[in-house]
Amino acid sequence: MGENILVLDAGTTSTRAILFAADGALIRVAQRDLTQHYPRPGWVEHDAAEIWDRTLACAREAIGDDADSIAAIGITNQRETVVAWDKKSGKPLARAIVWQDRRTAEFCADLKNQGHEAEVQARTGLLLDPYFSATKMRWLLDHDEAVRGAGERGDLAFGTVESWLVFNLAGRAHVSDASNASRTLLLPLDEEQFDAGLCDLFGVPQESLPRVVDTHGALAECSEEWFGRAIPICGLVGDQQSATIGQACLEFGQTKGTYGTGAFVLTNNGKTIPRSTHRLLGTVLSQRDGGRVYAIEGAAFVAGSLIQWLRDGLDLIESAAETEDLARSIPDSGEVVIVPALAGLGAPHWLPQARGVIAGLSFASGRAQLARAALESMAHQTHDLATAFAADGAPWSMLRIDGGMAANDWMAQDLADMLGIDVERPDFVETTALGAAFCAAVGAGLYPSLEDAAQAMRGKTRCFRPRIDEDARAERLARWRKALAAA
Ligand code: G3P
Repeated sequence: MGENILVLDAGTTSTRAILFAADGALIRVAQRDLTQHYPRPGWVEHDAAEIWDRTLACAREAIGDDADSIAAIGITNQRETVVAWDKKSGKPLARAIVWQDRRTAEFCADLKNQGHEAEVQARTGLLLDPYFSATKMRWLLDHDEAVRGAGERGDLAFGTVESWLVFNLAGRAHVSDASNASRTLLLPLDEEQFDAGLCDLFGVPQESLPRVVDTHGALAECSEEWFGRAIPICGLVGDQQSATIGQACLEFGQTKGTYGTGAFVLTNNGKTIPRSTHRLLGTVLSQRDGGRVYAIEGAAFVAGSLIQWLRDGLDLIESAAETEDLARSIPDSGEVVIVPALAGLGAPHWLPQARGVIAGLSFASGRAQLARAALESMAHQTHDLATAFAADGAPWSMLRIDGGMAANDWMAQDLADMLGIDVERPDFVETTALGAAFCAAVGAGLYPSLEDAAQAMRGKTRCFRPRIDEDARAERLARWRKALAAA
């Protein structure tokens, strides 16, 4: 057996497989896009069979002839997305409901009106928002005959994406790791397994749920049929927790922000369960031998997807990279402000019905102003998160960034300017995959701890230091707040 690690990174818009050497060097990568289904406004679905088929194809491509070199597999994934399948046939019963999907907004509002949010938040660290898995599971039971039928027969399996992949890879094992399980609304932060009372509240049959396991350790075994030999699965971790680990935010207070489809900021909270009073989330960062490390999380739903919309929806730009030159070509956005609430507003506002706003338009507003305003909105949203984290007693002293958008130097500098702190970016921006590689490497015994794995596998970083003055910052934030009120 070798010492390489295979990571499967099943994200929202694409799925990938990356083969890492034990020192973190990238050996091979394969990627396939995922089809996004938008059957109605606010609805987002994936084909679970496609997720499995394409992930398997990527894994085979990344492995090449090197199956014998692999010590362990790590899996990281888009979180909260719900897959329903038949335990007997192993086939999906319905399209997966994606984390961005807002169809259960009304159900969430009803539960909130009935006064359940305080208890749900105290137990799970989450809020009553359609983002999380439980109301999506209930929706499937209420609206999909195949799901309901399988439930009645006792054949129904629910799971998030890592659970679905393990079920396929590992001879039908039905497990979910604690970091993913903590995004469902069904796992109390201080309990080992899903809770019967929470399952009752959301109307989810407990027997349809997976067993909750560690994020790193000997978690399952991938059957020989897929890659020619059995390979242990030693890391399972939700993608945002994985990026936090991949950024080596392993000590209390260390913070990362990932700018992918959405923007997700997580601060390590150590072994203490986070108790937010400013509408942030408490979540499991990692779990080993049942012992948990927690994180405080702020999620803004729209980040890179805004730039995608400028490109594909408005035809304003040809490539995302173009926004950097456009932003640099002008001294300011000419008072144009974009509130990227295209999928509602996440933390700290939590307004599922909010919609996007472009404010401050004049005849002087053109492509450059719009592109710059779009990039500026990332720093504005992050600033709102920073304020909420500080109010919760978790101020950031530095922010480590990653994700597709973090490659944009202008945006990285703007973040440092608006937050007034150093922003650090690793040269190797695949931190999500790297975190799962750390987990798998530790789980397989290649390193004794995540700290050791980070020490051995993480590369160099670049630092962006704040440059603008207080007045300019205050002026921009005032304009942002005004536009936000209109969303
Ligand atoms: O909570 C949703 C998050 O896990 C999605 O991440 O990277 O697939 O946009 P990403």
